[in-house]
Amino acid sequence: MEFLVKSGNPEKQRTACVVVGIFEPRRMSLAAEQLDKASDGFISALIRRGDMEGKTGQTLLLYNVPNTLCDRVLLVGCGKERDFTINEFRKVVATVTTHLNEGGSMEAVYYLPELNIKGRDIAWKITQSVIAADAALYQFEQTKSKQTAARRPLRKITLSIPSRRELASCERALETGKAIAKGVSLAKDLGNLPGNLCTPSYLAEQAMALSNRHTAMHCKVLEESDMKELGMGALLSVSRGSRQPAKLIELHYQGADKEQKPIVLVGKGLTFDAGGISLKPAASMDEMKYDMCGAAGVFGALSACADLGLPLNVIGLVPSSENMPDGDANKPGDIVTSMSGQTIEVLNTDAEGRLILCDALTYAQQFEPVTLIDLATLTGACMIALGKHAHGLMSNHSPLAHELLNAGKAIGDRAWELPLWEEYQEQLKSNFADVANIGGRDAGAITAGLFLSRFTKKMHWAHLDIAGTAWTSGNQKGATGRPVALLTQFLVDRARHRRH
Ligand code: BES
Ligand code: MN
Ligand code: ZN
Repeated sequence: MEFLVKSGNPEKQRTACVVVGIFEPRRMSLAAEQLDKASDGFISALIRRGDMEGKTGQTLLLYNVPNTLCDRVLLVGCGKERDFTINEFRKVVATVTTHLNEGGSMEAVYYLPELNIKGRDIAWKITQSVIAADAALYQFEQTKSKQTAARRPLRKITLSIPSRRELASCERALETGKAIAKGVSLAKDLGNLPGNLCTPSYLAEQAMALSNRHTAMHCKVLEESDMKELGMGALLSVSRGSRQPAKLIELHYQGADKEQKPIVLVGKGLTFDAGGISLKPAASMDEMKYDMCGAAGVFGALSACADLGLPLNVIGLVPSSENMPDGDANKPGDIVTSMSGQTIEVLNTDAEGRLILCDALTYAQQFEPVTLIDLATLTGACMIALGKHAHGLMSNHSPLAHELLNAGKAIGDRAWELPLWEEYQEQLKSNFADVANIGGRDAGAITAGLFLSRFTKKMHWAHLDIAGTAWTSGNQKGATGRPVALLTQFLVDRARHRRH
């Protein structure tokens, strides 16, 4: 999809379709009024007849609107003007985009960014329009034998802005939106691909391919033999039961001079989590192909970072493995030694994410990260606590937690903080090792976070539990591409403030 920004009057647009908003009840937006004036009351007459109430998502396609240069005008309902918020805005953009894609218009000019949303500026609306339009057209068809292409697909969306004065800032916002949309789509593709195709080796190949598309990127993949040499006993204990070799993927983006300390993003890359010997129940087990969405989020954010050419150094680290039951799999009660030297009693082999992550977090230290962030579909408990709307955020450094919370709020990909208090640590006590890999039923998301915190003590670290947010279940089953937007916004803010 091609996206553009431009300013100009709606009646003067030589295009297949001009899109304008109508608020409930039957109130014209500015652009609708302009068209109405040019057409001697064509739009208002229609509205008066009751064809367009303005309810959110309602659409009305008009042909031959007098004194306009466009082939069509699409009226779209936006709901009550004072209830018009970020979610309605996204919904309207998505509705319009799918509608046009299924109709005959191959290009269109949207007069939607001019609509008022409290506390959001025009640049924000440009970024969001691109993200929402691109997401609306996303389809995963790699694994279908026939592709369902639209007959006359929408190819070009022009976003109209009220004044040329904002052109420069809106063009930047457009680029941000495009980079995020592309990163989100990459993350969705990787997430949606099933475990038999998306293996640790496949993820490593995709990281290589991504690095080959950008001169500022390079990629390195560690094999099991390398992990053994490094003493990654925790990571290797998870992959023992799998026929697929584990990989530790290192994706480097260098956008600043070498001396600048990197931000390191670690993503859980469990390409299928059967639970191991602590086998999961059969219902919905297919969804455990999504257990690599942390890895997908890291790749998506790095892709966006490279597309935007941010003046930062960022390293993506992805420990990737399957978790399968097998005669050689790790067993409840096994004790393994992590790269940090700490011993871990594996009381439940299904708590494998923290086992692969702890070694990756220890490994990350050698890069002397200014900031270390991991993202992982880590606990069902986090999904119970926060549902599918907010990522669970835990951190040992409150300024970092706030940066992430704010980035999420700004871009509309929100996280919510959970406490990492000392009081919870005793739940992780083991009679036989330094730490147990589970902490009981209470506060399961927090004890998982605390487990990781034992490996990140010297660093400014944050953990995003994306178990509830990385994919949706039910008949709309699919990866969401979250938290690519949050991370990209965080990196954009870092690049702007050069806080390190
Ligand atoms: N990948 C799962 C977490 C998960 C479960 C994400 C359901 C989304 C939906 C993780 O590896 C896991 O199995 N966690 C266990 C931990 C428990 C054994 C302490 C869980 O959450 O049940
Ligand atoms: Mn598990
Ligand atoms: Zn898992």
